[in-house]
Amino acid sequence: MNHLLEISQLSKQDILKLIHRAIELKKTEQFPTYPSLVMVNLFYEHSTRTRVSFDLAGQYLGMKVINIELKASSETKGELIEDTIRTLAAMGIKYFIIRHKHEGLPQQLADKIKDIHIINAGDGTHAHPSQALLDMMTIMEKKSAVEHLKIALVGNIKHSRVAQSFQCISQKLGVKKLALIAPPIWQPNAVHYGELTSDLKEGLANADVVICLRVQRERLLAEEHIDLEQYREGYALTLRTQAYAKPDAMVMHPGPINRGIEIDSEVADGPQSFILQQITNGVYTRMAILEALIGKQA
Ligand code: CP
Repeated sequence: MNHLLEISQLSKQDILKLIHRAIELKKTEQFPTYPSLVMVNLFYEHSTRTRVSFDLAGQYLGMKVINIELKASSETKGELIEDTIRTLAAMGIKYFIIRHKHEGLPQQLADKIKDIHIINAGDGTHAHPSQALLDMMTIMEKKSAVEHLKIALVGNIKHSRVAQSFQCISQKLGVKKLALIAPPIWQPNAVHYGELTSDLKEGLANADVVICLRVQRERLLAEEHIDLEQYREGYALTLRTQAYAKPDAMVMHPGPINRGIEIDSEVADGPQSFILQQITNGVYTRMAILEALIGKQA
């Protein structure tokens, strides 16, 4: 594996290998280390979970980790991201974790610049592959056979890179049923995998796992805004609506969560919530991804 740009580049075997390695790393006390390697976090969009977990993943693997503070970088003087990467590569940095609002940018950079490794940490509404891997790791730790599961994604499916990558990983791993629940205005024109519905009760019926998505107001066009009270009424995960799913259904959310909008605190902090496990698993998933790029795994 040379880059991790989107889930579609991975085979089912690649995905399972990464997830099993992440599970193994979680149980390991001493990690392999690569002190001669340097990785850089280049986040052109805000992040807490992804950025810090990649930082920790690199540190646990003994790599040198550099976080570029974009407000203090030469990007503010007009430098193109491509030139920033070439500059850093000329200093010997090979591992680039990139988050950017432009869809497809990590792929374009990977095509143009040789001898580096790029991990897509989220590109606009397009893809968030490491999130899909950690989400699936969290599900597989609890429920081994995903081929028998019904999983429901609820929220702004249209603008969610998490939903895009999750559809792809679900198809690759043969998830039995994927319900994509969204109000009509936040439904995409086409889906990669799964069935769209605007009916929360129908979509959650018999679900083994419910993944709640953030509303993502920052990505909405003027005509796509809806009244949040109205959204909450129809789609929020509350103690009442959680009961539409199976009684032991896992509750997940990629974060950041908007309490009282898409999910209530009673559910987010409740006994069926795996939100904090997702965050923990993010570190091990990202270690497994880095190892695969280093060439020791996958
Ligand atoms: N899930 C996720 O990508 O969170 P951050 O934006 O905090 O990285």
